[in-house]
Amino acid sequence: MLKNLTPQPPDKIIEMIAMYKEDPRDGKVDLGVGVYKDEAGRTPVMRAVKAAEKRLLESQDSKSYVGLLGDLGFVDEMRKLVLGDAVPAERVSGAQAPGGTGAIHQLLELVRMAKPGATVWFSDPTWPNHPAIVKHVGLNAKTYRYFDAETCEVDFAGMMEDLAGLEADDVVLIHGCCHNPTGANLTAEQFDKVTALLIEKGATPFIDFAYQGFGDGLEEDAANVRAMAAKVPQMLIAASCSKNFGLYRDRVGAAFVIVGPDTELGVVKGAMASLNRLNFSFPPDHGAKVVEIILKDPELRADWEAELKEMRERMLVLRADMADALKRETNSDRFEFFRKHRGMFSRLGISSDAVLKLRADKGIYIVGDSRVNVAGLPGERIGELAKAIAGAV
Ligand code: LMR
Repeated sequence: MLKNLTPQPPDKIIEMIAMYKEDPRDGKVDLGVGVYKDEAGRTPVMRAVKAAEKRLLESQDSKSYVGLLGDLGFVDEMRKLVLGDAVPAERVSGAQAPGGTGAIHQLLELVRMAKPGATVWFSDPTWPNHPAIVKHVGLNAKTYRYFDAETCEVDFAGMMEDLAGLEADDVVLIHGCCHNPTGANLTAEQFDKVTALLIEKGATPFIDFAYQGFGDGLEEDAANVRAMAAKVPQMLIAASCSKNFGLYRDRVGAAFVIVGPDTELGVVKGAMASLNRLNFSFPPDHGAKVVEIILKDPELRADWEAELKEMRERMLVLRADMADALKRETNSDRFEFFRKHRGMFSRLGISSDAVLKLRADKGIYIVGDSRVNVAGLPGERIGELAKAIAGAV
């Protein structure tokens, strides 16, 4: 029976991790997978995480099961981090999930449970795992225009035109901040317009919130999501601690469902617990407990926020330096968007041939759609990288 298996299409981001590793060249640069790197090229364990792990190691006296929805203390802290007081806790059902991807998967299964064959819209382009999981769980997929390849900014008119085709009960995946892969983000006003359209059409927003704190700040990055949450009758949110807590391999995420008066919260909670049970039983505890310790302890929380701010500000400096260098090298404003974009990524808008040339000739690894991991830019080599990019276009 197993002989019937056919080769699965590789994920183009994950594929690059191996390609980069195998490249023997000394001066190679990894601008592929979205992992934060410091000035020395390391992805450190954050200070507050180390401290919380020490506490956990000393205080934990059992490894027995926690609960199907995970650690409810963690879930509630995450609810507050993501939603603030935008909606009353009594309207929110939350479940711990194995990373942001796990949360997306669980929520899409919940959509399928509520409405088999539902249609999920996502931005064109989006994180490649979105369409892959939508297909995997057997839901229908539609895309909306999002990115203007000429300006490298949001194509808002195109987005609204496409979303005008929404039907009641459709689900619309939206990046809460720090759009992956483009780095181009909706303004507060645009977010409001999308909110009004979704309400008018009876569609449900599904926020992928993987980069809170990587754009303009923890609160600033959540502002649009909270404003939308306060208005819509129902909403899905997949939050991740991979990036803002640097807990990549520990798989820490949370799935939230905000319900309206027509939906019984207890039934949603039961469905989320059941889906966890069916897929993996109990979500992994360690990283979630670490996050809970940090968020509940004022000192650790302050240190975490301070380190996250250092990371965010470093990315902003790299953005400005790269935009300056590209301006010098190309003698044009073509790459000015690099300064304006927010989050870990920017799409350069260069051809796939140019991307391949950079890889082959210079060992510079950029995802095929020309997405650059800003946090992977080595500060002291920006001039050299800008020159290579200018040369390749
Ligand atoms: C990325 O987009 O590079 C990250 O979110 C890592 C991943 O899982 O793809």
